[in-house]
Amino acid sequence: MAFGELYAGLYDHFYRDKDYRAECDLLERLWQRFGGRPQHVLDLGCGTGGHALELARRGYRPTGVDRSEPMLEIARAKADDEGLQVELHGGDICALDLGRSFDVVIAMFAVFGYLTSNQELEQGLAVARRHLRAGEVLVFDCWHGPAVLRHGPEARIASFDTPDGDRVLRLVTPELDSLSQVVTVSYEILRMRGDRVVEHTTEAHRMRYLFPQEITHFLTLAGFDEVSFYPFGDIDASLTVEHWNMLVAAR
Ligand SMILES: C[S@@+](CC[C@H](N)C(=O)[O-])C[C@H]1O[C@@H](n2cnc3c(N)ncnc32)[C@H](O)[C@@H]1O
Repeated sequence: MAFGELYAGLYDHFYRDKDYRAECDLLERLWQRFGGRPQHVLDLGCGTGGHALELARRGYRPTGVDRSEPMLEIARAKADDEGLQVELHGGDICALDLGRSFDVVIAMFAVFGYLTSNQELEQGLAVARRHLRAGEVLVFDCWHGPAVLRHGPEARIASFDTPDGDRVLRLVTPELDSLSQVVTVSYEILRMRGDRVVEHTTEAHRMRYLFPQEITHFLTLAGFDEVSFYPFGDIDASLTVEHWNMLVAAR
């Protein structure tokens, strides 16, 4: 299972340089561009709450959904520590029915990439549509197929020190299957205390990369009729084959 306890416990360390505040600035600019003034935000695949908590700090009313209980537990603990109002639910995006609609839906950091079959993607986008008020916006980011095929995923190794003095090694080995449009990313995580391995886990994350034409098709099927693509992080630039991550806005 992806995002198990050890991986989830280290997630905020792995992505300590990810700038959730800047990403929320970008989301706010995008919502303004679409003329919306959202209050109630649904964050699909909210993980440890990087966006949901920052949005709560800014006065929005976020609701987060994730199927990884260890990720949600961390989000809950952080929200409690800060006294932030964030509603958090366990569940699978593909089968979600919260019974109410939102001013905006987001799915950030390649969440829809985890929906690797056409059926899951159709279900996930239909769920997003059902949870949006008429005319409101869905925003998500995902891997941009042309860039993935041109540049190819690379093996990586990273290490960092935890606040309690352990050293963590993270080995990332990707395997590209271009027929199914999926990269299987194998993670090996070793937590070291001195020269002893005190924890060890492996996880395989199957990530689908997507092409703008098929996204437009799937979004149209789900009931969206206006779709925009941007390089992730810059909504004033045009998407090119150099951009590995793309941001999609649809309503
Ligand atoms: C890369 S993390 C992103 C977390 C968070 N959005 C962020 O930006 O840090 C992907 C998250 O999507 C969740 N996820 C993937 N597929 C899911 C599904 N079908 N239903 C619910 N959550 C899912 C995972 O559990 C994980 O927490």
